[in-house]
Amino acid sequence: MASLDLVQTLSSNGLPEVPSRFVQPLQRRQPCHGRSSIPVIDLIDLLHKDESCAETAAKALKRACEEWGFFQIINHGIPDSLLEDVRRVVKNFLDLPMEEKLKRPMKFEPYHPTGYGRLFDFSEDTILDWVDVLIHYLSPSALKDPDYWPDKPTNYRESLEAYGNQVINLVKVLMGILSKGLGLESSRLEEAFGGDEAQVVLRVNHYPRCQQPDLVMGLSPHSDGSAMTVLLHDEVEGLQVKKDDAWWMVKPIPGALIVNMGDMMQLVSNGRFMSMEHRAVVSSGTERISIVVFYAPTANAILGPIGIDQHHAIYKSIKYGDYLATYMNKELKGKERINSLLK
Ligand code: SIN
Ligand code: FE2
Repeated sequence: MASLDLVQTLSSNGLPEVPSRFVQPLQRRQPCHGRSSIPVIDLIDLLHKDESCAETAAKALKRACEEWGFFQIINHGIPDSLLEDVRRVVKNFLDLPMEEKLKRPMKFEPYHPTGYGRLFDFSEDTILDWVDVLIHYLSPSALKDPDYWPDKPTNYRESLEAYGNQVINLVKVLMGILSKGLGLESSRLEEAFGGDEAQVVLRVNHYPRCQQPDLVMGLSPHSDGSAMTVLLHDEVEGLQVKKDDAWWMVKPIPGALIVNMGDMMQLVSNGRFMSMEHRAVVSSGTERISIVVFYAPTANAILGPIGIDQHHAIYKSIKYGDYLATYMNKELKGKERINSLLK
């Protein structure tokens, strides 16, 4: 059977209906309850010289991680001009002819797929999401195969390298504060995830316009397998978070980055910092692009709840590489994977 075109091609071919493989059964199309700005965290407050201001901000960060697992960060220190550059080079890449983009087709490496194409297409029964993706490592250097970074447009690599480094620094600052919030040394979480060996992966999600947006899902409900995820948006709505059994549309703040806790943060915090279920919906009017950095442990990190009496641990310990292997080899299904680690 001929393979199905990528979503961008399906979107531009003018067919009145989406191919049946994209149609979600009704029970997987739960409606959205409303809009939420999710908690907003100001990095300037977190790093304030005045201790009580920094302490108040750290408490707000901790509460955001406990209640939502998601927040928008403002005054994050990454210049607007760099965010603009990144959005521009990514858009320029997506606008290249398909043959050029497919010079690095999706290849399925043991842990992370890398390249451009379609994810989670396991069998003809798998329902497909309305998204094309580009994935490559940002770190560590041993996995960061420059051959797998697009070489067009010409400034792609330079912009993504600069952005990746800044996001990694931001994640380290946040992890330091969250470590202390758990009563640990500030470096403890970073060390647990492998320090400089942490796997940092870039994923561009491209959601082209869809002729029947209510029938499909841009990205099916899932929680991230990472420790922390940082999302650069294009101001187009589409990301929804599930809280108290209802779906909430995130209202992106211009200039802010959206940060969420991944499964590994939920695991090491013994369920205090929540890796919330989220999904992406699409629209008939506007395409949407999200540029996501996953900060994940090194594959051989052994992880379990940290800093508590092990009688109180609600999760089993795992080797991250094993977790990732199961994560990448199954359809996205809510919070099934992290829940399977409950004792
Ligand atoms: C993701 O879950 O990777 C991204 C969701 C989004 O595009 O907003
Ligand atoms: Fe996600």
